[in-house]
This record gives sequence, structure tokens and C-alpha cells, in this order.
Amino acid sequence: MVQHNETMNNLITKAIHMTKKAHAPYSKYNVGAAVKVDEGEIIGGCNIENASYPLSICAERTALFRAIAQGYKNFVSMAIATETGGTPCGSCRQVIWELCGDIPIYICDMNGVVNETTSGMLLPDPFEAKDLK
Ligand code: THU
Repeated sequence: MVQHNETMNNLITKAIHMTKKAHAPYSKYNVGAAVKVDEGEIIGGCNIENASYPLSICAERTALFRAIAQGYKNFVSMAIATETGGTPCGSCRQVIWELCGDIPIYICDMNGVVNETTSGMLLPDPFEAKDLK
């Protein structure tokens, strides 16, 4: 694994660990995510699929929705892990932007970070609440 600070390593380790929790019997594409909250805690998520495919949820949204349900509102950084180092889908980019604003995102494979980016870079020119007014 590339050298990183301890917080970042903990986040990445949690995201990789969360891939083992994935419920992905259809795609067999296991995704793990971990979000660090302002208070310092790291909340994990995994993808959870359903036989009615569109009802499935991605790992990134599981992590964020779990964190929100636990009372956290401010997010510091996120790691996402897959076997291939795949990037977050468009729906997750939209949700990450809305709930987290511009934060560092570490996209990982099972060995660590393959792409260190930001939610702003992943979703340029976003649609957001102010557009509704
Ligand atoms: N998936 C995620 O969990 N996150 C993404 O950003 C991309 C896609 C999941 C959804 C589905 O369970 C599987 O990966 C294949 O699309």
C-alpha cells in the first residue's frame, strides 16, 4: 500500500473490509465504502442487491445513509474499495456531493488507493438545491 497518514489508512482499511460484507449475488461485484465523520468516527457501507435489480443500493449510499441515521451530518473524507478500483456511479456522485460537499475521495483496490480525487472533481457542474429556486 502507498504511504498515507493514519486516518487515511484507517478509512481505506475499513472500505476494503466492507467489501466482505457486500450482498451482491447477481453482479458478484463487491463494493465497500467508508466515510469519516467530523466527530472522527468511520462508518462503513456495502452494496446490497435485490432480485428486483433497481432496488439494489450502492456501498457509498449505504455508508452515508447509515451515518445520517446515526445522527452525523458533517463528512470529512470517503474511501471506496472494489477488486478493480472502479469509480463511483453517477447517482452516488450526486448524493456524495449533496451530503458531503467537496471532500477528498480515495478510490481503492484491494491493495490501497489507486486514485485520490475529490467529490467536486467527480461531479463537475453539479445539479443542487440552489437550482430549484
Ligand atoms: N455499485 C456500488 O456499490 N457503487 C458504485 O458506485 C457502483 C456500483 C454496486 C451496485 C451493484 O450492486 C454492483 O455494484 C454492480 O453494479
